[in-house]
Amino acid sequence: MEMCYRVICAFLLLALLSCLLMRKHKRKPQAKVRLPPGSTGWPYIGETLQLYSQDPNIFFATKQKRYGDIFKTQVLGYPCVMLASPEAARYVLVTQAHLFKPTYPRSKERMIGPWALFFHQGDYHMRLRKLVQGSLAPDNLRGLVPDIEAIVTSMLDSWDGRVVKTFHAMKRFSFDVGILTIFGGRLEERHKQELKRNYFIVDKGYNSFPINIPGALFHKAIQARKRLRQILNEIMSERRRKGVMNKDLLGCLMESSSDKDEHLSDDQISDNIIGALFAAQDTTASVLTWILKYLHDNPKLLEAVKAEQMGIHETNGYGNQPLTWTQTRSMVLTRRVILESLRMASIISFTFREAVVDVEYNGYLIPKGWKVMPLFRNIHHNPQFFRDPQKFDPSRFETAPKPNTFWPFGNGVHSCPGNELAKLEMFIFIHHLVTKFRWEVEGSQSGIEYSPFLVPKHGLPAKLRRASGTISSDAA
Ligand code: HEM
Repeated sequence: MEMCYRVICAFLLLALLSCLLMRKHKRKPQAKVRLPPGSTGWPYIGETLQLYSQDPNIFFATKQKRYGDIFKTQVLGYPCVMLASPEAARYVLVTQAHLFKPTYPRSKERMIGPWALFFHQGDYHMRLRKLVQGSLAPDNLRGLVPDIEAIVTSMLDSWDGRVVKTFHAMKRFSFDVGILTIFGGRLEERHKQELKRNYFIVDKGYNSFPINIPGALFHKAIQARKRLRQILNEIMSERRRKGVMNKDLLGCLMESSSDKDEHLSDDQISDNIIGALFAAQDTTASVLTWILKYLHDNPKLLEAVKAEQMGIHETNGYGNQPLTWTQTRSMVLTRRVILESLRMASIISFTFREAVVDVEYNGYLIPKGWKVMPLFRNIHHNPQFFRDPQKFDPSRFETAPKPNTFWPFGNGVHSCPGNELAKLEMFIFIHHLVTKFRWEVEGSQSGIEYSPFLVPKHGLPAKLRRASGTISSDAA
């Protein structure tokens, strides 16, 4: 009897202990927690149309004003909780990141490749992230400055005297830099052309309706995606045959694949190469387009940036010496213009995660399976953190922003490993643009388009003219 009593006591004690432990780890919601306020809109489509068809500033600001920093909605058929405060965004992306997993539509995962790092978390993600981060570290980027300069000058020269959609020119530029970073400077021209041709078909179908029937953009994109895989296989086989060991992104991934414990398959490598190209291209191109617009709209600022860049241009014998990495680090005003453009445009207005368990935050329940959206744009446009937020004012970056209020490249385990590369492209582009060219924006100068990142209307058509007294790189 006593034995039985002891067993029951031990069992109850164990149950109590495990309950306490479970509570600590699982953060089970208490009975009184409730869903955040907000509206879920129409059945199934929810508020998708409102979100994607109007200025996101208006959508988010109206909601935040009405419901506060945490509110629910429904987007793309999923119930979501939107988080507009730095603390809440930090909770999801940094301190409690393990309670939320990355989440993307199936069609996107299929297009990019399921092994790309941003679809994962845990060990595989960390391993990939280390490799990608390593290949994009400042020590590796330093050596790319002359090649990026060459890409910029040839792009600007081909624009000279013509009206071109700025966003399209910037897409070509960021694609070429992506190829350079991934494959180094030694990719055969035929491979480059084939990659370009097929990549742009995938790009076109990426945001199309995901219906896989012949003739549909989505179908064409899926076919082009298969060809990309074949081209990458060919490039990898050639490198292996020739014993090439480069420090570019492909080299870093291939080197790791020869390690027995850390083996990466060719599929894993190519999904991550295509993923990096995608992550690098439209984002950088859209910010570059905004920079051109903001400089155009602020003539006094443009003169000051030009003065800064002319100082460097003169030091370099008016372009006879190449720009150096150290010089890009010394562009104080240009750096503030870049940061302010990133804040003002906030081209990634928000990101998505999915709650992997029921989570209680600040008295609200975020049910398991719900999407969670930290709203970068709201934080960047909140007057509590950035005075007069609708004003383009680079001088606000003379002092560092308040902690956790400026996240153009995200934060936490999935933050952008390409941020230094993106900024380097911007420094080099601005240097050559303002020291050698003048430009005029054609047509209406206001309005926003979604591509899916935010860009000025019609991709900002602009005409470039070489400033008198400067010569093109062909003639030099
Ligand atoms: C101005 C340009 C760019 C912006 C604004 C930007 C922004 C971001 C943001 C906000 C994230 C985090 C997304 C999230 O947490 O869900 C991210 C992730 C990422 N970015 Fe960028 N990015 C830019 C350029 C680049 C470039 C040039 C590369 C080069 C390869 C790159 C590669 C990546 C990758 C691989 C990830 C996923 C990281 C992970 O999941 O661990 N990005 N980016």
